[in-house]
Amino acid sequence: MILELQSLRKSFGGLRAVQGISFQLPRGEIRGLIGPNGAGKTTIFNLISGFYKPTAGRILFDGKDISGLNIHDIAKLGIVRTFQATTVFQDFTVLQNVVAGRHLHTHYNILTALTKSGRDNEFENERRAIEILEIIGLGEKKDELAANLSHGHQKALGLAIALAADPRLILLDEPFAGMNPEETNRMIDLIRKVRDHRITVILVEHDMHAVMALCDKVTVLNFGKLLVEGTPAEVVKNEKVIEAYLGGV
Ligand SMILES: Nc1ncnc2c1ncn2[C@@H]1O[C@H](COP(=O)(O)OP(=O)(O)OP(=O)(O)O)[C@@H](O)[C@H]1O
Ligand SMILES: [Mg+2]
Repeated sequence: MILELQSLRKSFGGLRAVQGISFQLPRGEIRGLIGPNGAGKTTIFNLISGFYKPTAGRILFDGKDISGLNIHDIAKLGIVRTFQATTVFQDFTVLQNVVAGRHLHTHYNILTALTKSGRDNEFENERRAIEILEIIGLGEKKDELAANLSHGHQKALGLAIALAADPRLILLDEPFAGMNPEETNRMIDLIRKVRDHRITVILVEHDMHAVMALCDKVTVLNFGKLLVEGTPAEVVKNEKVIEAYLGGV
């Protein structure tokens, strides 16, 4: 198992956002994490990636307890997340954005920048960033300002920035939000490519077409609890799941 959550809990004052979630994620899987608004999906991402500390429970990555480690140490171990809102540096070029993503996991400071190994590092960072942009299909746009990209390309750039940190587990928070059908199909292909590079994926997503197309298994949350787990086909026809979504309307 690459990831295991054991009775994970997170409270904000009196609000119990995550109420004892346990699940296991085998290496190489694309796992869907779905549920109505406020179910606790983003909170679980914030816990796994170290943005929040758990109130109780454990998070094991590769069998090692990472609960309570800080964001940088977790990123260095190989867990990287994207954000629900598009978060690229609008005034940077596409390439500068991906190089910035690489700095997340290189020990880079002003002193190393002045040394030969620091310069070699920068060269290597740029080479790897270009390689990632080629994979993502943004190679030809590398010198454009991020602000000038379409919504679909900005989302793809967000994925490239995350990949720049060489993750082994990537947490994608609604990568399909606001996409038209053509952009959606392109993003489905990109996420398949990510998995082909042996990166395990957790996908938080409301677009059920994308979830059905991509996920091996789906974990459904409701009010901070695990409701059902199964294949996408099993989950969409499950009574409890249908009720949870209709109940939220
Ligand atoms: N930092 C915080 N402080 C207080 N409450 C929070 C905080 N973060 C999340 N919550 C609350 O925790 C609950 C779960 O929120 P979360 O963002 O995890 O939901 P979600 O499943 O990602 O929903 P959505 O599909 O709308 O993105 C909500 O009731 C939310 O208001
Ligand atoms: Mg969310």
